[in-house]
Amino acid sequence: WENSEQTFTCFFALFCLFLSDLRGAVEEVLPTLNQQGVRVFILSEDCDVEGIESLSDKIQQASDQPLSPQLRANINLKSPALYIYTSGTTGLPKAAVINHERLWMASFVQAVAGVRSDDIIYVYLPLYHSSGFLMGLCGAIEKGITVVLRRKFSASHFWNDCRKYNVTVIQYIGEIMRYLCNTPKRDNDRDHKVRLALGNGIRADTWTDFLQRFGAIRICECYGATEGNIGFVNYAGKVGAIGKENFLHKMGCPYALIRYDTEKEEPVKDSRGFCIEVPRGETGLLIARIAERSPFIGYAKNSQQTEKKKVRDVFVKGDLYFNSGDLLKIDNEGFVFFQDRIGDTFRWKGENVATTEVADHLLMVDCIKEANVYGVKVPGHEGRIGMAALTLKENMDFDGKAAYQHVKNFLPSYARPRFIRIQDALVVTGTFKQMKVKLGEEGFNPAVIRDPLFYLEDNKGYVPMTQEIFSSIAEGRIRL
Ligand SMILES: *[C@@H]1O[C@H](CO)[C@@H](O)[C@H](O)[C@H]1NC(C)=O
Repeated sequence: WENSEQTFTCFFALFCLFLSDLRGAVEEVLPTLNQQGVRVFILSEDCDVEGIESLSDKIQQASDQPLSPQLRANINLKSPALYIYTSGTTGLPKAAVINHERLWMASFVQAVAGVRSDDIIYVYLPLYHSSGFLMGLCGAIEKGITVVLRRKFSASHFWNDCRKYNVTVIQYIGEIMRYLCNTPKRDNDRDHKVRLALGNGIRADTWTDFLQRFGAIRICECYGATEGNIGFVNYAGKVGAIGKENFLHKMGCPYALIRYDTEKEEPVKDSRGFCIEVPRGETGLLIARIAERSPFIGYAKNSQQTEKKKVRDVFVKGDLYFNSGDLLKIDNEGFVFFQDRIGDTFRWKGENVATTEVADHLLMVDCIKEANVYGVKVPGHEGRIGMAALTLKENMDFDGKAAYQHVKNFLPSYARPRFIRIQDALVVTGTFKQMKVKLGEEGFNPAVIRDPLFYLEDNKGYVPMTQEIFSSIAEGRIRL
């Protein structure tokens, strides 16, 4: 379900169940659904549309006795439990097959993170993704704990909900923690019972801010992809890390960080054609061996995309690994750090620019609230030049001088965003990841983009972007 876009997909469906807010969308395709023998249900007491049945009344009438085990007689750990649509780092959404084994494994993350049977967990992430559904809801069912379910994340209601329902465990993903830190400070910021935050994608600076502001909450950062066969849990609570190397873990699911060429977008090979493991402290692409105990199930009815996530003949002829698409680093103490997702790095003047690093610097500029950094193509140039979409703090204007001073002091010239685009709100995906590809394609032409644009003029600073500057760049009169 892609609730936000009012579209939906039925995948080998026999049944289609939807909420009333999608009624219009379903009615549009109802004849096709009925024709294909799909029974269509609405989560409501009644429905007067021919071909749509109500479900809520039938739930009320159903027996509350345990179901007969007969019904699941043919289901084992390898049977599909559900499909979750995921981008798999890049490309269009694909249905990742989650079997029962994966579902159980994901639901144990709560136990590893230290969730107790008397905890109350707050789940507000979309249930059509793995964090909210597998780690949050299924984990809570496995532990038998109380769930406070909210339909949609709201930064302004967040802590009130936690107080009202005595929430002790929260989940987070991507930008959520930053959103919370960006809300206006209140006297009762530390008045809550939350003791544990469980999730993925918090950046080190936000981690520190969050603890200072909201009190001693244990943050348990986890790493894993919906369809992946490898995960880490930072049970040690080391700020900034996503996990710690562990001998048993590595025995159970062997993984490696291999040297990766971000320009060619492929692993670096040695003279015999095999991949090269990076030394400690160096960034490499995470790959994990596909084996009986660490299987990669892939995407439903999409062998081509499934195949694309596999790498063969990595260290010896015939071996097989899952390509996570993520660049990680492991330090001398064995702590694992997320560096970048492939695609989150672009190259300019032969140098790699890590978008997250540039964004972190922009966020230090007083007027900037949020930053999304990406690369844009420039006619006549190799690679991509840096551009940033920004949102500004309330009642503040873009302070081009301060921004210029900061990027000049802290970033090498190739990494400084050449173009700035000011937006009212940053576009994020359903799991609050920033969208980069679309913005990159939109480029920096002021005739096309309605948002205010700025251009970094050499030795001068950020100036408003004009059609004349654009033409000069396009025609090569200004060299970037
Ligand atoms: C939260 O805890 C307080 C104090 O223990 C209790 O009085 C209150 O009823 C609880 N609220 C809910 C919604 O359970």
